[in-house]
Amino acid sequence: MVATATSAKKLIAVTLRVWRQAGPAAPGKFVDYPAQDVNPDMSFLELLDVINDGLEARGEEPIAFAHDCREGICGTCSATINGKPHGPGRGIATCQTYLRSFADGDIIIVEPFRAKAFPLIKDLVTDRGAFDQIQQAGGFISVRTGAAPDANSIPVPKADADLAMDAAACIGCGACVAACKNASAMLFVAAKVSQYSLLPQGQPERDRRVLAMVAKMDELGFGNCTNQYECSAVCPKNITHDFIARLNRDYVAALFKSRFQQASTSTGGGAG
Ligand code: SF4
Ligand code: FES
Repeated sequence: MVATATSAKKLIAVTLRVWRQAGPAAPGKFVDYPAQDVNPDMSFLELLDVINDGLEARGEEPIAFAHDCREGICGTCSATINGKPHGPGRGIATCQTYLRSFADGDIIIVEPFRAKAFPLIKDLVTDRGAFDQIQQAGGFISVRTGAAPDANSIPVPKADADLAMDAAACIGCGACVAACKNASAMLFVAAKVSQYSLLPQGQPERDRRVLAMVAKMDELGFGNCTNQYECSAVCPKNITHDFIARLNRDYVAALFKSRFQQASTSTGGGAG
């Protein structure tokens, strides 16, 4: 019995078929965990908690899974549920998935995000530190802290502010990579580049930022975008693939300027 709340709703029975793998080099396999009398209003992660309570009570190894805020904010949760990163819902993270999204008797297949650049640590937990490395390569603005200008002192068109805000909604979860057949990180990088390139504050480092972040993305083994758009279909923040087109434009412009400057320097040319 796993239902904890008294609810008038009909309780359901589901089986979680979970990928278990003790470590990066260990063999992995699916293991079934049947759950009876589940309240459909229970969250997916709460059901994993309940299953883990049972495993620990029996002296067995609990299922390792990543989570933190459980409110769709932090980007930590990361299960692929029935083949879809973050599960069946649209615009929500794994932690916002509820059992009411499934039918009585369902077998629910739960796997880690699978991508070469996200090596598996244990069970459902992967190392998404590659995203941190991309951010460290250029996903920031170099400003003096403690000298913030007053709000509205730099006018920003509303349409640009709205788009920048949409891009900034990216929580860095990695679902876009897990959904892509090429394991491309283009949607993530596009969001992180665009949140600054749309604003005046992002202009001084615009070219350096996009070149450095794309170079780091390539170096870390993420694939290329081939316009399948599975990334935006699973994104819990509904980041649109239009940002990828924006990234490509930024990248080509920055590359052209960089090559032109190199050529001018090597020939001793330039304005004069
Ligand atoms: S673009 Fe969407 S799916 Fe990709 S890391 Fe950001 S929030 Fe997650
Ligand atoms: S646990 Fe933070 S977004 Fe899911």
